[in-house]
Amino acid sequence: MTIPIILDTDPGIDDAAAISIALNHPEIDVKMISTVHGNVNIDKTTRNALQLKGFFNSEVPVHRGAAAPLINNPIDASHVHGETGMGGYELPEPDPSLLSSNSAIQAMKETLLNADTPITIVPIGPLTNIALLFKTYPEVKTNVKEIVLMGGSAGRGNVTPAAEFNIYCDPEAADIVFKAGLPITMVGLDVARGASLSSSAIEELKSINETTDMLYHMFNHYHGDEFDSGLAVYDAYTMLYLLHSDDFKTADAHVDIELNGKHTRGATVVDYNADEKPVTVVLAVDKSKFKHLFYDALAHAK
Ligand code: RIB
Ligand code: CA
Repeated sequence: MTIPIILDTDPGIDDAAAISIALNHPEIDVKMISTVHGNVNIDKTTRNALQLKGFFNSEVPVHRGAAAPLINNPIDASHVHGETGMGGYELPEPDPSLLSSNSAIQAMKETLLNADTPITIVPIGPLTNIALLFKTYPEVKTNVKEIVLMGGSAGRGNVTPAAEFNIYCDPEAADIVFKAGLPITMVGLDVARGASLSSSAIEELKSINETTDMLYHMFNHYHGDEFDSGLAVYDAYTMLYLLHSDDFKTADAHVDIELNGKHTRGATVVDYNADEKPVTVVLAVDKSKFKHLFYDALAHAK
């Protein structure tokens, strides 16, 4: 039984790992990809998504989305992902015809309303597109199975002490999404803090296949959060959760998005003791299994 998803992304080196899994794994059926501002500007995130579409010779439609947050000015993480947003590995310039439209919100609406089974929305960048989708076409919610997103943290942030990047980029959008009344699974920074890619694990990627060789070169260009144990490939954990949720530790909670705090704006405030706990907070992956789950998922790629 495949999992139909809409993947909303700001590639992004760890996005590239997630996209490599999503586009090639037999259990994941990507109905469309939407791009969003985030790690780098929308032109670059869209170009990167199209480069990966071309690399995998994928038929999955890519639609360009929001260029800026709802209120904030765009921020940038090119110091993490490189000037292009996907540094370290040269991919051919994508043919402009690979882009299906410049209207991701419209495309999401049509994809959801035309779906014969509810679709899981997987945002792995700022939540601007998803917020605009729900505000513009609230009727689509009946065809959304759940939202499984990379974002937030039950603990400290990575852009500020309180806020994680995807939420911090567009807190108003995150607030709209977390209040949309849909089941949400929050795959935050916490997972990576318990299981990341060691340098030897990254080295092994060179020899599995062409895709892992590409990721090996990108990871060596990626200045993502490095913990004692290794490199955090945040967006990839979201894909592994979709495929192997039993290997993850979760807790139910109520999650509020801080919008006003001088030092805490963009924080995900996780309350495990609330009366209503609609969010599944993903806290950890089985550390003994993570590397092989990651490799096995990528083994389906070219
Ligand atoms: O905080 C990590 C998240 O921010 C990841 O999605 C990464 O790609 C960046 O978008
Ligand atoms: Ca991302």
